[in-house]
Amino acid sequence: MDLLDDTDGGGEGAPARPAEAAPRRKKLFVKSYGCQMNVYDAQRMADVLAPEGFDETARMEEADLVVLNTCHIRERATEKVFSELGKVRELKAARAGEGLGTTVVVAGCVAQAEGAEILRRQKAVDVVVGPQSYHRLPELLAESARAPVVDTEFPLEDKFDHLAQPSPARTQARGPSAFVTVQEGCDKFCSFCVVPYTRGAEVSRPMAKVLADARGLAQAGVREITLIGQNVNAWHGLDANGVESSLGALIGAVAAIPGVARVRYTTSHPNEMDAALIAAHGDCAALMPFLHLPVQSGSDSILAAMNRRHDAARYRQIVRAVRAARPDIALSSDFIVGFPGESEADFEATMQLIGEVNFASAFSFKYSPRPGTPGADMDGQIDEATKSARLHRLQALLEEQRQAFNAATVGKICAVLFEKRGRHAGQIAGKSPWLQAVHVDGPASLIGSLAEVEIVAQGPNSLFGRLTGRNAQAQARAAAPAEGGAWR
Ligand code: 5AD
Ligand code: SF4
Repeated sequence: MDLLDDTDGGGEGAPARPAEAAPRRKKLFVKSYGCQMNVYDAQRMADVLAPEGFDETARMEEADLVVLNTCHIRERATEKVFSELGKVRELKAARAGEGLGTTVVVAGCVAQAEGAEILRRQKAVDVVVGPQSYHRLPELLAESARAPVVDTEFPLEDKFDHLAQPSPARTQARGPSAFVTVQEGCDKFCSFCVVPYTRGAEVSRPMAKVLADARGLAQAGVREITLIGQNVNAWHGLDANGVESSLGALIGAVAAIPGVARVRYTTSHPNEMDAALIAAHGDCAALMPFLHLPVQSGSDSILAAMNRRHDAARYRQIVRAVRAARPDIALSSDFIVGFPGESEADFEATMQLIGEVNFASAFSFKYSPRPGTPGADMDGQIDEATKSARLHRLQALLEEQRQAFNAATVGKICAVLFEKRGRHAGQIAGKSPWLQAVHVDGPASLIGSLAEVEIVAQGPNSLFGRLTGRNAQAQARAAAPAEGGAWR
């Protein structure tokens, strides 16, 4: 079936359809892998395809269009895509047996990195589209009706200028917490990382466009905005007065939008933590007390080999400065174990740094050599068993710290932004200021708003709380950003 063919076939004896009848809506299934940029991109792809007649479904079997929005960061992530494509091929064949067409799109960073190789490895694929070109999806789908297409260009035009904004109803369906891309790409060239190759050079979106997006979201009921970018704190741009500004100023401007009660940002590079951003953690009440700041390693020689361009002392200094600005801040990080040349002493330096900093949460990985990156060709590659043993020890320490952080929250009173129903009847779930999942017994009518909660217990992956009863007041205050500070 041609996906862009809007005939519905009708049924036997069905009345002739008037020429102006609405085309049959089609089903879109998007599966995202990897980082938050991909989660956001998946939503924007759905927004681009909505006017083309596609509604999202959570069931791949019923999809006319399947999009795999892929991640290339580690070998495992890439292999997952090809194994998923095997399943998609079977599904496409089964649907074809029922006379149904299925178009298969591979988007994201694997698409960018592998391009036409994907078509060669998996014949079921119709479109390969890189992250800079998904605004062209409607044209690419039309072209793919004739032959499979690949678009991995880095176009000069700003894709954001070509992307439809979601309708208020779509925004509401996605919940009260939304992402806004403010920056894309990376010029840092850490020696283990494919991102500079797949996502291209660092580009900041203009402040006015970011604020327009944020305003639209807030008007539709979004209460929490997370500013995202591969190197979000490298964002820079001109403010309304033409003054060169960094992320700290952008956060302040987003926080000032009526209805925005919370602002977050991710993910950051230590070298871009400037004074204005650190100060914002103290001055901007709506900026939530959580910072994800990847360090990767605690060893200076490994940091140098990784081309991180800072040492462990600099990281410790930033942590001290951020904690001075916002004493209750929760810190999070990324770690890689088993980078080429990592000795036992280098690994111990990472453990030592973790022990000193105390992280509330973290992501940690075994080093995965990525073709085309300098690390893949370095001497001193570490064997899998050593990587696994180190990862195990590192994760045990990080998990201990996570549990201790969560335990320290029990007894606190804080605002929770409720996002959805909980797993059990009568429960609702949301996030604390420190990005912990919190469940309470409470009415579904609170979903979409902030309410005051006393944290009463800790589970393995979330906290349990009790509504304090000061919710009406909470909502009123949250609606007035100037008083957002009361919500710490
Ligand atoms: N191997 C392992 N982990 C990696 N990361 C990036 N590239 C690699 C790699 N080749 C991790 C880093 C980064 C996070 C997003 O993924 O820790 O911060
Ligand atoms: Fe990759 Fe380093 Fe850029 Fe982060 S800063 S995206 S780890 S190259």
